[in-house]
Amino acid sequence: MSSTDTAVSTVITGISTLVTNDPSLGDGSPLGLVRDAAVVIEGDRVVWTGESSKAPATDNRVDAGGRAVLPGFVDSHSHLLFAGDRTEEFNARMSGRAYSAGGIRTTVAATRAASDEELEAGLVRHLAEALRQGTTTFETKSGYGLTVADEARALRIAARHTDEVTYLGAHIVSPDFAEDPAAYVDLVTGEMLDACAPHARWIDVFCEKGAFDGDQARAILTAGRARGLHPRIHANQLSYGPGVRLAVELDAASADHCTHLTDADVDALASGRTVATLLPGAEFSTRAAWPDARRLLDAGVTVALSTDCNPGSSFTSSVPFCVALAVRDMGMTPDEAVWSATAGGAAALRRDDIGRLAPGARADLLVLDAPSHVHLAYRPGVPLVSQVWRRGVREV
Ligand code: NIG
Ligand code: FE
Repeated sequence: MSSTDTAVSTVITGISTLVTNDPSLGDGSPLGLVRDAAVVIEGDRVVWTGESSKAPATDNRVDAGGRAVLPGFVDSHSHLLFAGDRTEEFNARMSGRAYSAGGIRTTVAATRAASDEELEAGLVRHLAEALRQGTTTFETKSGYGLTVADEARALRIAARHTDEVTYLGAHIVSPDFAEDPAAYVDLVTGEMLDACAPHARWIDVFCEKGAFDGDQARAILTAGRARGLHPRIHANQLSYGPGVRLAVELDAASADHCTHLTDADVDALASGRTVATLLPGAEFSTRAAWPDARRLLDAGVTVALSTDCNPGSSFTSSVPFCVALAVRDMGMTPDEAVWSATAGGAAALRRDDIGRLAPGARADLLVLDAPSHVHLAYRPGVPLVSQVWRRGVREV
């Protein structure tokens, strides 16, 4: 197609079902489904989507062979800067022991002991694993260092691999401050924030019994905001609490987990811009009750689905697995789950250039070895992702 610059254009044709997430396209549903579709990519952008028969001429042509094409998954919540192993903790839990925030300390000790190279190698390995399963954008957090130097280095390493970096010095009170949590909050909002803010976009707090209460969380997020970091919160994961309402009050981009919600929490989410990010890998891996996606959706809340990939409570990098769980156990339709794992994740990161396949969007997409996106839930556990394109380049 004609171009004002030298970017090469490529058309992907032969798409049985194309998820655009643009309701002005195709069938007019929230997924904007186009049948017998094509996508035209120029450089790193989508420049055209529509019916195959109407596709404009391009330099290159790729035939999807009757497969489905979706926007790449946007995994808006992960903890990939860690070292060590918690297989035994998982094993014990599956043999009856309860999950608590305290297990985080095991990973903190191992992470502090790791070299920069080891930490980065772990991150790169998990990112490659996620990419093979269709994740083209990921957010990741610090939170297993809990010293000024260890938090800052985690964020520095993360920032080499993604723009969506979150400072989570307030994951738990550092074991070094067990006798004086207030002094740890001072560190997180003072010297540690100074060292971390240059490397992060977001600030997060684990607002939970055994971690930080509502007042501490407010102080930490407010301090971060004053340094240009935008809030997101681990809220209402293990018990009822103030996290979700605080998230809405502070216009956090996302309240994550949302497993224990009162009606007031749901009303608050419905009244604000804060996305409810559901992380079913955590309920799976802690054998806990599922968050009720149906209740949130029926109230008009925007829902994202994400992996929470971390070595303690959810050691999966697979968004397709989370989609299948959400459909089977959380009351989501396949269309809703796919939307939440793509456009929903983008909303949780306040991004409009990803999570959709319409002109102007980033050419981040995946080809499923299946005729429709519904197969992500219909064929759970099957590795259906057969191609992944990121910024217009095929990477898988
Ligand atoms: O999102 N909730 C707090 N943080 C993680 C758990 C981290 C861990 O157990 O190591 C989560 O589930
Ligand atoms: Fe988390």
